[in-house]
Amino acid sequence: MGIAPLISDYAVDGILIAEPDIHSRVKEIGNQITQDYQGKELVIIGVLTGAVTFLADLIRNIDLPLELDFVAISSYGAATSTSGEVRFLKDLNHPVEGKHVLVAEDIIDTGLTLRFLLETIHARQPASVECCVLLDKPTRRIIEVPVKYKGFEIEDCFVVGYGLDMAGRYRNLPYIGIVECSQE
Ligand code: IMP
Ligand code: MG
Repeated sequence: MGIAPLISDYAVDGILIAEPDIHSRVKEIGNQITQDYQGKELVIIGVLTGAVTFLADLIRNIDLPLELDFVAISSYGAATSTSGEVRFLKDLNHPVEGKHVLVAEDIIDTGLTLRFLLETIHARQPASVECCVLLDKPTRRIIEVPVKYKGFEIEDCFVVGYGLDMAGRYRNLPYIGIVECSQE
């Protein structure tokens, strides 16, 4: 029983970040956010669908009153064209004007998704906007995006688990698993 048999699934080639390591890092980030947002009206925006696992653990490590909201974004970025077209599939439910916004995302890769989101949120005049990502692939960046809270920097590997998917699967793995790494 349990999750272990999935590691032998054809797509997952090994564990990159084990469950206890994720949890201790998420706890550290939660503590940092708790310190940084004392006395502020905090809204955390989760990017569907990949960020839900990270977000669920993160908010339970933040000891502050906060609100949650979600966006869904479709990106035709690096994978299918060079246009980097990004658009909303689902916008925020509530206005963020005057609030301190923290965007939580599973991974920053090219940066196109987060850049689009930050620009859109900025235009709505929040008190502040920062980003929090579990994973960062810095070598893949096309557009620079300021990321205040970061879980782990990783190599140019395609990873799954803890919310991250490949063709919709593997989000339920409790660890970050490697599918494939770039040969460079
Ligand atoms: P960006 O716009 O290129 O920064 O892309 C970020 C999005 O690409 C993330 O929200 C993920 O949905 C997806 N993504 C990037 N790298 C991976 C990966 O290694 N595994 C799964 N999804 C990924
Ligand atoms: Mg995503």
